[in-house]
Amino acid sequence: MTCKTQIPLNGVQPETWIQRFIEAHPRLIHAIRSFTEQNFIVKKRALLTELDLQGWILDIACGKGFILDVVSSAKYLGVDYSEKVLRYAKSLHQKTFIAMDGRALGFHDQSFRNCIAMDVFHHIPDEDFDCFLQEIRRVLKNDGVFLVTDPVKAKLSRDPLSYFFQRFDGGNSFRDPEELIRFLLKYFKIKKQYFDKSGIGTWQIYVLTKS
Ligand SMILES: C[S@@+](CC[C@H](N)C(=O)[O-])C[C@H]1O[C@@H](n2cnc3c(N)ncnc32)[C@H](O)[C@@H]1O
Repeated sequence: MTCKTQIPLNGVQPETWIQRFIEAHPRLIHAIRSFTEQNFIVKKRALLTELDLQGWILDIACGKGFILDVVSSAKYLGVDYSEKVLRYAKSLHQKTFIAMDGRALGFHDQSFRNCIAMDVFHHIPDEDFDCFLQEIRRVLKNDGVFLVTDPVKAKLSRDPLSYFFQRFDGGNSFRDPEELIRFLLKYFKIKKQYFDKSGIGTWQIYVLTKS
């Protein structure tokens, strides 16, 4: 399998009207997410407990650089494949943000002590997921930590409100924990795994290592 994916010269274009709307209204989307996710309490908790703040942090598919609202690290690098999103991130934080596809990270092997993918995996379809994970494994130091959060796929019968919101999310690849773990175990060991509730949704959180 080849994972060399370049961002097209004219940038990555959103495919659906929902993705276009989300990209065009970052402030509004952040406010809605903050309300429905109870001020991001799950992600904040995970960030504050799981990272080694002495080491470099690679924030993969960083969006607006949300984690910088929570941890202040001098050694932060954010990558995302949306130029528009990165422009917004740069207007908020004096940090380095680079346009890059998560399936082809332009860094040397073992560059980062911490890799983070927060609420990203439901944007990555199955056919791209192996490349995405292989690249993270490659750039993570051997003794590094990979922190993952992602919403659990909501079921209409059990969690109608969350199910409704997931229909209007830009991502189309929400996964059950079993599905996600099947992918993760191909490349990582699970050091810690738990679920946490935040607003209307339930999140799955994984702390992963290479061995
Ligand atoms: C729901 S946002 C999450 C942003 C941020 N991690 C957070 O927690 O606030 C998902 C982000 O993934 C980015 N993204 C999706 N697929 C990507 C890929 N293959 N490479 C890089 N970024 C990607 C999108 O541009 C979007 O900014």
